[in-house]
Amino acid sequence: MEFCVNLVKTVDDSYTIEIGDNLSEKLKEFLREFARDKKINVAIITDSNVYELYGEAFDKTVKDALPQCRVNTVVFPAGEKSKTRKTKEYIEDKLIEWGYRRDTLIIAHGGGVVTDIAGFVAGTFARGVPFVNYATTLLAAADASVGGKTAVDTEMATNLIGLIYQPKKVFIDTATWDTLSEKEISGGLAETIKHACMADKEFFEYLEENIEKVFEMETQVCRHIAEKNCKIKYEVVMLDEKEQGLREILNLGHTVGRAIETVSEYRLSHGEAVAIGLMAQAKLGCKMGFCSEEEVTRVENLLKKAKLPVSIPEWIDKEALTKKLYTDKKVRNGKLRFVFQQGIGQMVQFERGTCAADAVYSMFIDEESARSVIAEL
Ligand SMILES: NC(=O)c1ccc[n+]([C@@H]2O[C@H](COP(=O)([O-])OP(=O)(O)OC[C@H]3O[C@@H](n4cnc5c(N)ncnc54)[C@H](O)[C@@H]3O)[C@@H](O)[C@H]2O)c1
Ligand SMILES: [Zn+2]
Repeated sequence: MEFCVNLVKTVDDSYTIEIGDNLSEKLKEFLREFARDKKINVAIITDSNVYELYGEAFDKTVKDALPQCRVNTVVFPAGEKSKTRKTKEYIEDKLIEWGYRRDTLIIAHGGGVVTDIAGFVAGTFARGVPFVNYATTLLAAADASVGGKTAVDTEMATNLIGLIYQPKKVFIDTATWDTLSEKEISGGLAETIKHACMADKEFFEYLEENIEKVFEMETQVCRHIAEKNCKIKYEVVMLDEKEQGLREILNLGHTVGRAIETVSEYRLSHGEAVAIGLMAQAKLGCKMGFCSEEEVTRVENLLKKAKLPVSIPEWIDKEALTKKLYTDKKVRNGKLRFVFQQGIGQMVQFERGTCAADAVYSMFIDEESARSVIAEL
């Protein structure tokens, strides 16, 4: 006897992204509409830094919008070190302690660490409850808050435990960037430059003209950057949510970047490492005829304007770095694979595929070529 459990489904995970300065009124509107006078349980998940800066006002906004609901906040210590199963468990235990069940709404309030972990909690708590991202860093705006990837780190691997789970709504509040350190801004700009190199020549030119203004918090520039980042990322995610092929292009600069980050034992931030990784793929791509020397120089100058490094610090062991490349997720059959920018604003496509999602953008690279480009940087 054989039964077929028929589970073919069409899922609509669409959501909207709201970008602007001070979005508390927009958040209220959304919450009122979402709850529609129902009693739901709301959990705000945030980290210690964000809570200290914005927590009280944020809690009040949520409570004002939902006077009929229970609203509780859970705060964990800021930093990547908190992005663990332990913190996830701590948050889940809080939710259970408060008596929260399926009627829960989770609001992630913070940077990428908060949105990654809160999204993961939302995806598994009571087998999945809705969540909203309220992003407060440029990096979360550029990358982490859009796309639905959620995860925690373990001692052995970063972002390996998690799921793809889409938020109901994303808010990107550029006013909160005001309190970010210069280093945090640069980190977000590394992913921004990656997006421009990969998908938008005009945006690259805009950045060449305006990138310094982000450090001065010029509103229009911050907003434009937030919008462009989201647009570029969600267009890729929309076509290839499950990473069949196209989504690999988001990995531009990350082959060498991630390896440097690890070999530096995280002395280099993710953004700094990605900046050097962008230089690596541009230089290697130039040798293979994918972009010109002049274009490589433009990438280099833009990274410098964003106060990012463009060469490998001398204290990094370059041979260890070459070996580390093999831990990249694009490695197949023990061989390295890279993705490359084509000129500025496009990616090199190696095979067209049957649809946009499964086209091939990565190319096998022999170890010697990787080693020689690393030697030059
Ligand atoms: N899910 C994805 O697709 C994706 C993509 C890229 C990165 N990420 C993840 O995102 C994380 C990095 O993101 P991040 O840089 O935002 O990290 P983060 O959340 O740790 O924020 C960086 C620091 O800034 C502080 N902070 C946050 N908002 C602030 C504000 N407005 N003013 C002052 N300080 C503020 C935080 O407390 C923290 O100390 C990594 O864990 C990475 O793996 C995920
Ligand atoms: Zn990245």
